[in-house]
Amino acid sequence: MILAHYYQEPAIQDIADFIGDSLDLSRRAAATDADVIVFCGVHFMAETAKILSPEKTVLIPDLDAGCSLADACPAEAFAAFRAEHPDHYVVSYINCSAAVKAQSYIICTSSNAVDLVRQIPADRPILFAPDQNLGRWVARQSGRELTLWPGSCQVHENFSEQALLQLRLEHPQAEVIAHPECQPHLLDLADFIGSTSKLLQRASDSPAQEFLVLTEPGILHQMRKRVPGKTFHEVPGSDGCSCNACPYMRLNTLEKVWRCLDTLQPAIELDEELRLKALAPIRRMLEASR
Ligand code: 13P
Ligand code: SF4
Repeated sequence: MILAHYYQEPAIQDIADFIGDSLDLSRRAAATDADVIVFCGVHFMAETAKILSPEKTVLIPDLDAGCSLADACPAEAFAAFRAEHPDHYVVSYINCSAAVKAQSYIICTSSNAVDLVRQIPADRPILFAPDQNLGRWVARQSGRELTLWPGSCQVHENFSEQALLQLRLEHPQAEVIAHPECQPHLLDLADFIGSTSKLLQRASDSPAQEFLVLTEPGILHQMRKRVPGKTFHEVPGSDGCSCNACPYMRLNTLEKVWRCLDTLQPAIELDEELRLKALAPIRRMLEASR
């Protein structure tokens, strides 16, 4: 079973058995009866698949495909932060290591974070990690106060407000759609905010014919395939570079996919005690967001 995230290069998306956002992919990884999963995404995604399906061989085309958000939250520092807030429910975004998941009450993705936070008893304080931008947006949507771990995604942090305003002048009819990992001043300019799969859905449901897309440009491939008559523009990074592309996601290539199918390497390995600790909050998420 070849699973691919929307941020993978188009050639990988085109050969995948299933393409989705983090939530869809973790559900699919849990449900498949294939013996081998090739996870075309980043390490925390493949690791989540292994946590859910320890008996399966879970491969990732490039083992160095990490995530700046996961790296921004080392497990020991997170344990110290938790110790300062002992009465808090810990809600962790799926973009974190197994060692941080193991310290969490529940995992969320950008698809279900608002819903899951709303389900937490109103009298309990909440600690949210590791993405402060997603956390601020969830706090606003849910009306809950969240204590935030100060992490962020290097890709979504970097979109240029000036470039977005310029694009809006050039395409006044375009709808601005954004991933909640973007900074608040950019989200304030968005007409619609959601996870990658919700952005894709919006692209087909919206009456707009043109879109300015504030997320990793890999998803434009699916948008163009799903609604070929509409026009999609990517928004550049702050210095006009192509740093709106996730450097970790883009480490995977079609050739590396072929090689890992051929050799069944590199495979995700996980300590069993850690796996079981990380499994409980992921299961809570899957049950609560059914
Ligand atoms: P989604 O869960 O929306 O697919 O986001 C994953 C991600 O890494 C965004 O940067
Ligand atoms: Fe991580 Fe950001 Fe890349 Fe998503 S886009 S995988 S959050 S570095």
